[in-house]
Amino acid sequence: MLVLENVSRHFGGLQALSGVNLRVEPQRVVGLIGPNGAGKTTLINNISGLDHPSSGHILFDGQPIHRRAPHRIARAGVARTYQNIRLFGEATTFENVLIGQHGQGRASMLEAIAFWPSFRREERTLRERARELLAQFDLMDVADVPAANLPYGAQRRLEMARALATNPRLVLLDEPTAGMNPSETRALGEQILRLPQMGLAVLVIEHDMSLIHQVCDEVYVLNFGQIIAHGTPAEVRDDPVVIEAYLGKE
Ligand SMILES: Nc1ncnc2c1ncn2[C@@H]1O[C@H](COP(=O)(O)OP(=O)(O)OP(=O)(O)O)[C@@H](O)[C@H]1O
Ligand SMILES: [Mg+2]
Repeated sequence: MLVLENVSRHFGGLQALSGVNLRVEPQRVVGLIGPNGAGKTTLINNISGLDHPSSGHILFDGQPIHRRAPHRIARAGVARTYQNIRLFGEATTFENVLIGQHGQGRASMLEAIAFWPSFRREERTLRERARELLAQFDLMDVADVPAANLPYGAQRRLEMARALATNPRLVLLDEPTAGMNPSETRALGEQILRLPQMGLAVLVIEHDMSLIHQVCDEVYVLNFGQIIAHGTPAEVRDDPVVIEAYLGKE
């Protein structure tokens, strides 16, 4: 579904990504871990079109996407969340999910005028879908609260609900549990585990190894822009190369 072939990205002299090969198959949960500054966010930025590789190929459903603009990649079925939460702070929780659906509705303005009843039906479907997502992420009670006023954990859940509002087939999560307490983290893990059942594949960046073990089928380890290990969560945990990357020599 998603294939990265020999992807490199340098910023001036800094090699942020170096010859990365990585695959995400449909309905799999794939983890991406590595020390701070390893290139994890850069990798997700390159997949989502916010940034582009210096060399290499990124294929989604066999189509090259590494030169495409973010909105076209989103339309192809790739959604993401951000390490630094990006919500419309003054819009309500519900409105943030509706904004996430923007571009999902098929009716153009002209169609909307010509076929008002069918446009209304589409609008109603979108609102129902938005409510389902709020329920799924335990946000119904705060549907009318401005996003900026939500507790941190709820903002993180809203980021995920908004990403899923586009009905993606692949979702990229950049540290979805950052700032959450252990019980919030575990609950979000259960939400992530539901995504493959809904037909989604997931690529998740995470520092919390308990979450990685809870949700991931397989894990890639990035260090100084290079993939240094790939395997099951238990395999990478016990890999001496990985232990050394995290703890340093000696
Ligand atoms: N736009 C940019 N211009 C210059 N350097 C950048 C840019 N984006 C990232 N970098 C550098 O690339 C390297 C990788 O950064 P990246 O944010 O991808 O790391 P990360 O693995 O996500 O780290 P963290 O765990 O701290 O989020 C860092 O050295 C960073 O300073
Ligand atoms: Mg990062």
